[in-house]
Amino acid sequence: MDIKEALKGRHSVRKYLSKPIEEEKRKRLNEIIDECNRESGLSIQLICDDPDCFNTLIARYGRFRGVNNYIALVGNKDTLDLEEKCGYYGEKLVLEAQMMGLNTCWVGGTYGKGKCKADRDAGEKIVLVIAIGYGEESGTVHRSKPVQKLCDVPESDMPAWFKEGVEAALMAPTAINQQSFRISLSGNKPMITAKGNGPFVKVDLGIVKYNFEAASGHRV
Ligand SMILES: Cc1cc2nc3c(=O)[nH]c(=O)nc-3n(C[C@H](O)[C@H](O)[C@H](O)COP(=O)(O)O)c2cc1C
Repeated sequence: MDIKEALKGRHSVRKYLSKPIEEEKRKRLNEIIDECNRESGLSIQLICDDPDCFNTLIARYGRFRGVNNYIALVGNKDTLDLEEKCGYYGEKLVLEAQMMGLNTCWVGGTYGKGKCKADRDAGEKIVLVIAIGYGEESGTVHRSKPVQKLCDVPESDMPAWFKEGVEAALMAPTAINQQSFRISLSGNKPMITAKGNGPFVKVDLGIVKYNFEAASGHRV
């Protein structure tokens, strides 16, 4: 599976099989996490074989079942653009996981926050987590706002690379599927901004930027 198939095939999965993630895949995920942490200054961590974090009332209410593994997005509260960085690097990991045949779901609210096993230094906080593992199914395509609501460039004026980026941005996961972002083009430079004060809009912004870059090959 390549990155474009991963962008298309990724959907939130909330029910997981008991099948553990193989050692080889854990190792590969941890290598990518180390690279992300070096580049971003975050302290992202993969926590495996720990059902406690999703074995809570709120997680069950959030329709999660059988979550035994998760990625914790952790960073220093003083980090510049902490939430956006969590979104950007977390989405890189989500797509890498998808290419390894694993399923994921971003989770900002419906998990047992007090039960998350991630290590934290003084000044660090857990921004949110990503459930990861082998899903019972592979999820469904989310409803999307029309492209004209999310991008101010008419489709007929879009360069091919920009169109690919916009399509991938529309496929991005966002909290409560809010899609609170706007994409524009100034000369040859794509720009994406967050709109409104919905939950996790800055995390969403990082996710959407990563998807756009992965599909278009152009930096935002
Ligand atoms: C930042 C963020 C936080 C999220 N938090 C939760 C959550 O707490 N509980 C949940 O069930 N889904 C959560 N989601 C998943 C979204 O509901 C889901 O991504 C959205 O509905 C789009 O569906 P898709 O991921 O299948 O494309 C979150 C997604 C993002 C990006």
